[in-house]
Amino acid sequence: MAFTIAIDGPAAAGKGTISQAVARHFGFGHLDTGLLYRAVGRQMLDGVEPVAAARGLMAEDLEAEGLRSPDVAQAASKVAAIPEVRAALVDFQRAYARRAGGAVLDGRDIGTVICPEAEAKLFVTASPEVRARRRYEELHAQGVETAYEIVLAETRERDHRDATRADAPLRPAEDAVVLDTSELDIDAAVVRAIAAVDAAR
Ligand code: C5P
Repeated sequence: MAFTIAIDGPAAAGKGTISQAVARHFGFGHLDTGLLYRAVGRQMLDGVEPVAAARGLMAEDLEAEGLRSPDVAQAASKVAAIPEVRAALVDFQRAYARRAGGAVLDGRDIGTVICPEAEAKLFVTASPEVRARRRYEELHAQGVETAYEIVLAETRERDHRDATRADAPLRPAEDAVVLDTSELDIDAAVVRAIAAVDAAR
């Protein structure tokens, strides 16, 4: 039976890790929808026109190298503001959401636009300072040289672009359970996320 869990929220709030853990717990598939926008953003940096890139996107593009880099993240949030890019990615996401055996989709507009009928919705958030600190530590661990202040500025810039765009802005669905991870470690956040999904089953 299809069962959709929508997990939205800003960058580095813990969405990805929580989504993976929730999918594993319930034995569901997991689609990180940010990868779709990152793949289009990456192609734009390579000179491909973004709407054409989105229309021609293929599964293997989601495994391209460098999709996690800060440059590609900024490019992703730029192409994500183009309505034709978003429209071209809708069907793939909806088909994934209704796959047999259940699905977790994480992104920015899953509960509001892609799957308003999702059986369970979470909005995972944390303060910009906490998110920038986590992202900074992740980058540092990967050997990327940067300063916390730069990561904080990029976090705020991307939040602002995501929250103020006209098409599918980042915001919690009215029926989403809001999970603020500022003061939670990852294990505690996962326990709460699973409890919220169980309450919806
Ligand atoms: O989640 P991630 O940081 O990988 O997303 C990269 C960018 O893709 C976001 O900043 C956002 O602009 C865009 N995005 C989106 N809608 C989604 C997922 C990601 O607009 N469902």
